[in-house]
Amino acid sequence: MWKIGSIEIEGKVVLGPMAGITTLAYRDFMKDFGVAVSYTEMVSDCGLIYKNEATYKYLELSLKDHPIGLQLFGGKKETLVKAVHLVESLKCASDFLDINLGCPMPKVTRSGAGSAWLKRVDELKQAMTAVVEASSKPVTAKIRIGWDVASINFMDTIRALEDAGVSMICVHARTTSQIYSGVPRYDLIGDLRLKMKVPLVISGDIFTLDDAIRALTLTKADAVMVARGSLGHPRLVSQIDTYLKTGIRLPDPTLTEQLQYLLDFAYRLIELKGEKLAIRELRGIGTHFLTGYPGMRKYKGEMSSSMETLSDLERIVNQIRQSVLTTQDGVDKL
Ligand SMILES: Cc1cc2nc3c(=O)[nH]c(=O)nc-3n(C[C@H](O)[C@H](O)[C@H](O)COP(=O)(O)O)c2cc1C
Repeated sequence: MWKIGSIEIEGKVVLGPMAGITTLAYRDFMKDFGVAVSYTEMVSDCGLIYKNEATYKYLELSLKDHPIGLQLFGGKKETLVKAVHLVESLKCASDFLDINLGCPMPKVTRSGAGSAWLKRVDELKQAMTAVVEASSKPVTAKIRIGWDVASINFMDTIRALEDAGVSMICVHARTTSQIYSGVPRYDLIGDLRLKMKVPLVISGDIFTLDDAIRALTLTKADAVMVARGSLGHPRLVSQIDTYLKTGIRLPDPTLTEQLQYLLDFAYRLIELKGEKLAIRELRGIGTHFLTGYPGMRKYKGEMSSSMETLSDLERIVNQIRQSVLTTQDGVDKL
């Protein structure tokens, strides 16, 4: 058991926020696999202030997906605080407020937001102190280890955030200049939790159960964040959660199980976004459910290029099911 402020957290698997992916439908789908904590997609402070309709959509939460953090990004103390007041007035049902200090994308860092804050640690401390003061809910932060290899400063950033009163910090073990590639620098953050006053969630290349065990063991973090590793592989969350609770290693899913997961997710996404938009998004996300299973290239191609409707998806899934039945003994091949 660990805590974010006074919120008691049951498990140790956190679903990483992913803009454009971790929609309400995705979070609800993943929750059933043992996600302990989720985040909304990142929400622009100015989008809230200027009443951008699309921004407000990100505030929609489901009843079952708790605890959840509303993730804000912004490059100035004043706009962040204003957005926090707005969120407070809306009585948003999120359980905590997270500030994105790790986004590496130029369209975000250009305005001083996301990981651009890592270059202004003193100013960050002031801004986060004001955010903590403005929020009635615990405030957390998601950082990277530094801007680039020449300016690795995660310990200074962590100290500033702790002094500001944050209740948990998630560290993505990459620099901003690595974006999402290259090796996360776990070598630089051994025993990190032992040097911190607040809970630590660790993030970076968690694609297997053993990746999670290694990250937790190396850093002594309270929890591990699964992000890209969850794409098309929701069972990964159950595998990590079950192992950490019982020591049991769950098997990888069969292709037949993967197809059922894909359909479950598709129905939820269609409910949220309508068939046309959901199927378009599934052209990308859907193919991940087939990754790692032999003989899927043809179906992935079909899914990513020509799928327009739910019946297209169901037809492809049925074709794959037929092909599974006709392989030796009808047993799924892994
Ligand atoms: C497409 C994509 C979108 C992301 N969006 C966000 C975001 O909105 N906020 C955030 O804090 N992190 C975001 N991240 C970072 C992830 O939450 C995670 O920290 C990162 O991918 C490292 O974990 P991984 O290597 O296991 O995927 C995003 C990552 C990806 C790949």
